Amino acid sequence: MRQAGRYLPEYRAIRAKYDFLTTCKTPELASEITIQPIDIIKTDAAILFSDILVIPEAMGMKLDVIERTGPVFDNPIREAGQIESLETEGLPERLDYVMQAVKMTKEKLGGRVPLIGFSGSPWTLATYMVEGKGSKNHEIIKSFIYNEPEAAHRLLQILADTVVEYLNAKIRAGCDAVQIFDTWASLLSPSDFEEFSLQYIRYICANLETQGAPVIVFAKGVGSYKNLAEVGCDVLGVDWSRNLGDVRAEINSSKGLQGNLDPTVLFAPKEKIREETERVLRSYGAGSGHIFNLGHGITPKTPVENTQYFVECVKELSVKYHAE
Ligand code: CP3
Repeated sequence: MRQAGRYLPEYRAIRAKYDFLTTCKTPELASEITIQPIDIIKTDAAILFSDILVIPEAMGMKLDVIERTGPVFDNPIREAGQIESLETEGLPERLDYVMQAVKMTKEKLGGRVPLIGFSGSPWTLATYMVEGKGSKNHEIIKSFIYNEPEAAHRLLQILADTVVEYLNAKIRAGCDAVQIFDTWASLLSPSDFEEFSLQYIRYICANLETQGAPVIVFAKGVGSYKNLAEVGCDVLGVDWSRNLGDVRAEINSSKGLQGNLDPTVLFAPKEKIREETERVLRSYGAGSGHIFNLGHGITPKTPVENTQYFVECVKELSVKYHAE
């Protein structure tokens, strides 16, 4: 996750010249950044360089991505009336730059590796749109869903419909798989998770025209994977807090699993990186259905050399676990 990004000097060189949104909105740059980690760290799949927040930005919410603070919306949603002012008409046209980036990336990849497209889940998008920026305890979005549940559901449904259209467009443009990020699943109790997040993810999965493209759902910090296994996706992303074998047993091997090395292990000495990579492989156990990945985003100070070594370890060690 966050294959591209600030840990790569090649990415920083591009960002020194262009701001974050410009890099997302310029297909030449977005496709170049997408390919950087394929050439440099040699992963087996590329993830499109973009951001989940291009959707609210295209709905008319002014977005800044500020160094060290993260994403900030000038005018977050604080009342029901603002939801009706979101500009949902013409969204596909305003987000067409993403589809151009997909097409250009596919051309540049020339079939070397598959390309993953992604979206935020309605709940995670709503969290940013209502909070306006990163938050410690998320009081604003939590009080919004408890005090104005109807407005919250209206917003979540608008986002769910938008995500369906957006991911379908990405698949049509050439993405080989799509991933839905529910980074803020952890804010919700099990029953609230069903009401404010899971039902919308289920709706999205049911309405995607996948044309065979696998659908991956990553929900961070959920206690149980049982309900997630029934949303209609093909693969579940697992964060690094869980033992992969336990999750596999919990869902009866019914879905593929993607994960889940703790990204900070990439700061450890080489022997430890190798040992922890093998631990993840061993915890999944023998058989197919495991996509090795980090259990969340790579952080900006991660040494590139360690990341390259980690990918080598996965390629070397996975053979004995994943062999047919
Ligand atoms: O993985 C990849 O290389 C693909 C690109 C990608 C980005 N954001 C680029 C990015 C992907 C898949 C995302 C998804 C995303 N964006 C999520 C879901 C996944 C997750 O990380 O939980 C979320 C919650 C966001 C929102 C977002 N965008 C945050 C919280 C931040 C700040 C992150 C940080 O590390 O400070 C961003 C900015 C962002 N998105 C950067 C990148 C490379 C850093 C931008 C920069 O300063 O150059």
